[in-house]
Amino acid sequence: MLSFESDYTTGAHPRILERLMETNLEPVTGYGTDRFCESAREKIRKACGCDKAQVEFIVGGTQTNMVVISTMLRDFEGVVAAQTGHVAAHEAGAIEHAGSKVLTIPQTEGKIDAGVLSGFIEDFYADDNHEHMVFPGMVYISHPTEYGTLYTKAELMKLSAVCRRYEIPLFLDGARLGYGLMSRDTDVTLPDIAKYCDVFYIGGTKVGALCGEAVVFTHNNEPPHFVNAIKKRGALLAKGRLLGVQFDTLFTDDLYFEISRHAIDMTEKLKEILQQKGLPFFLNSPTNQQFVVVENRKMKQLAEKVRFGFWEKKDDHHTVIRFAASWSTTEEDLAQLKSILDEIYPDAVPEAAPEVTPAQNTPAPGIWPGTSGQKVPAESTAGNGNQSDALEKWVRG
Ligand SMILES: Cc1ncc(COP(=O)(O)O)c(C=O)c1O
Repeated sequence: MLSFESDYTTGAHPRILERLMETNLEPVTGYGTDRFCESAREKIRKACGCDKAQVEFIVGGTQTNMVVISTMLRDFEGVVAAQTGHVAAHEAGAIEHAGSKVLTIPQTEGKIDAGVLSGFIEDFYADDNHEHMVFPGMVYISHPTEYGTLYTKAELMKLSAVCRRYEIPLFLDGARLGYGLMSRDTDVTLPDIAKYCDVFYIGGTKVGALCGEAVVFTHNNEPPHFVNAIKKRGALLAKGRLLGVQFDTLFTDDLYFEISRHAIDMTEKLKEILQQKGLPFFLNSPTNQQFVVVENRKMKQLAEKVRFGFWEKKDDHHTVIRFAASWSTTEEDLAQLKSILDEIYPDAVPEAAPEVTPAQNTPAPGIWPGTSGQKVPAESTAGNGNQSDALEKWVRG
């Protein structure tokens, strides 16, 4: 079945598979000490413009978040994150399971604001009882966020300033970093991220690798015995070469950036198709994840022909769904999607292009950003308020 469900539904970029084959029978040392990991580390340092960066490889995103957060926080601290942040909402309590609380704060389109963050920390220290509370010990942001949105350089700088004022690290989850860096609507580069964050990771799993995330500590701040800590958490891959070869390939000849740019080019076409079919955008995402609001009965029809992600219930008759393009999306995939939508929406009136919504602008309830303030229409026919049974097997990631 046609799939726009996520960016990890296909395997790996062919150049990675070729390189794995070429190097397959060469015996190397284990646990990330091999020459492929070393070479990948060097290339990542160069791409980040950060000679002294310490780089380690971990298999998946949740594992990386758990390892980084639990090794950087002290016993009395928790991690501050947006209410919608992956660590808060979609990691099944992995952070708490590792012993640290996630301290959630309000968000706008998946982002946290430096003013809100600093207010939260000020209020914490102003509370006479704070010795009985969990200290804010680190800040977690995702870029792109879970809604595909991006921080601007100015926003990153402000968040970084708050963290430095309180001497707590800023951690950026870059599970989809490539798509953020190659967005047509960003002023943030990889060296900027290395400059403003204390630790971040470059996502491979969702950007052309079979699996793997590269964690980067930007100023000699890798926790002591970090490899030991990864091992203790069951996250140290014996055949570290699998991650080394993949990241070495992704950071050779700019492959990581090239395939991310391809995904963005495909997304621009995807957006045009969705817009032509009159599907209102839930928000303006400048990256590979696009969120549209669909009537539940149309959603059921769609689900028979194409896989997409269920995001959230909009109202009793509408659902927000996600279409994600990726490094492997093709023109044929888009043509197929278009013909499916042509069938389901034969009389569509094109939707206005999504407006760029300012970072601090929370949409009023019942209004879809990008639709000129259009109210959610009541569905006239027999839409039942329940999600389709099919939704239950849909994933969020
Ligand atoms: C922003 C973000 N961080 C982390 C993860 C977790 O990655 P994994 O599924 O590899 O554990 C996801 C998953 O989609 C994600 O969207």
